[in-house]
Amino acid sequence: SIDDELRWDGELTVTRHDRETGTTFVIRIDSTRLGPASGGTRAAHYPSIGHALADAGKLAGAMTLKMAVSDLPMGGGKSVIALPAPRNQIDAATWTRILDIHAENIDKLEGNYWTGPDVNTNSSDMDQLSRTTKYVFGRSVGNGGAGSSAHATALGVFEAMKATARRRGLGTLDGRTVLVQGLGAVGGDVVRLAAQAGARLLVADTDPQRLEAASLAGHTVVPAGEVLRTPCDLFAPCAMGGIIDSAAAASIPTMAVAGAANNILTDAAAGEVLRDRGVLCAPDFVANAGGAFHLVGQEVLGWNEDDVVERTRGIGRTLDEVYSLSEERGITTEAAALMLARARLSPASTAAATS
Ligand code: NAI
Ligand code: PHE
Repeated sequence: SIDDELRWDGELTVTRHDRETGTTFVIRIDSTRLGPASGGTRAAHYPSIGHALADAGKLAGAMTLKMAVSDLPMGGGKSVIALPAPRNQIDAATWTRILDIHAENIDKLEGNYWTGPDVNTNSSDMDQLSRTTKYVFGRSVGNGGAGSSAHATALGVFEAMKATARRRGLGTLDGRTVLVQGLGAVGGDVVRLAAQAGARLLVADTDPQRLEAASLAGHTVVPAGEVLRTPCDLFAPCAMGGIIDSAAAASIPTMAVAGAANNILTDAAAGEVLRDRGVLCAPDFVANAGGAFHLVGQEVLGWNEDDVVERTRGIGRTLDEVYSLSEERGITTEAAALMLARARLSPASTAAATS
């Protein structure tokens, strides 16, 4: 219920409703401990406002951890635009009105929250937001922004896949079976990189056009509903979060998990079930930080593209640290990554907050 969803440990929840379009806007600031909150704008049709609040809260929390573990001087937040219908049923004029209202809301937060692209928003949407507010990452390159973060995210996920396969004893990706769920901006690139590395690709999506393209490229299509039952060496969820609950964790026929989706596991228990079965899971807020490096690196820290690539490749090393800590302490990889992030977020860690 909304009552339950509002009992949340983050710093701020902002909501607004637009009667004309039937849209509800949510911005959640989880933490400004390390800097202004940042995280993308997700647009979707939710079953209820409670679901939208819950999604925004979980995603904002993941952004806090992502920024902390990645040593970026930002906090965590997220926007959810709860649409009156699925995104593809919203006409252009309505969408522009929705973006303009969202931009007004962001502007009222006066820089305590910086947005960027997420599921169902792209660089041209960021351009539209930037007509009303300056607190926007990921505008198109022609408009002075860093452009799409998808390529950097995919590169980081690829590094995570390699590091995870190696640690799990699978060696390199060459000859390994990799199942990619979601062939969007990130997943499409992940498929390309994994194929170049010699992996055998199984692919799933709900969009028939994307499947056709992947099939033409020589990859094997798996029905979207069969993903959790399809044997593979490594599973890369690159669609939506919440894909692995305890039941799925108990049966998914894979050795390793590393993907782009935020909040892949529904809860800590799912991570424990995976661990007990010897399935090595790359914490998503470590694996998918390439997009944050791309946006925050270039637009806040003055990095060039080479800097972004170098830092994104470092995701493999961060994961090695996570895996070693998890082995030493006998805790899940998710818990180990949380430890690293929380060490930087703790009040005692002044170096982080003042740098
Ligand atoms: P996208 O919207 O371009 O791609 C998502 C793809 O998943 C689409 O092709 C869609 O048809 C497919 N899909 C949706 N439901 C599915 C299902 N049930 N089964 C199979 N396929 C399904 O999104 P994008 O940008 O590629 O992001 C993918 C994930 O990565 C999202 O969860 C996003 O939050 C996360 N992420 C993205 C970053 C970025 O820089 N774009 C950065 C960090 C995380
Ligand atoms: N939405 C993406 C993510 O979850 C990219 C992003 C990063 C957007 C940082 C804004 C800020 O990482």
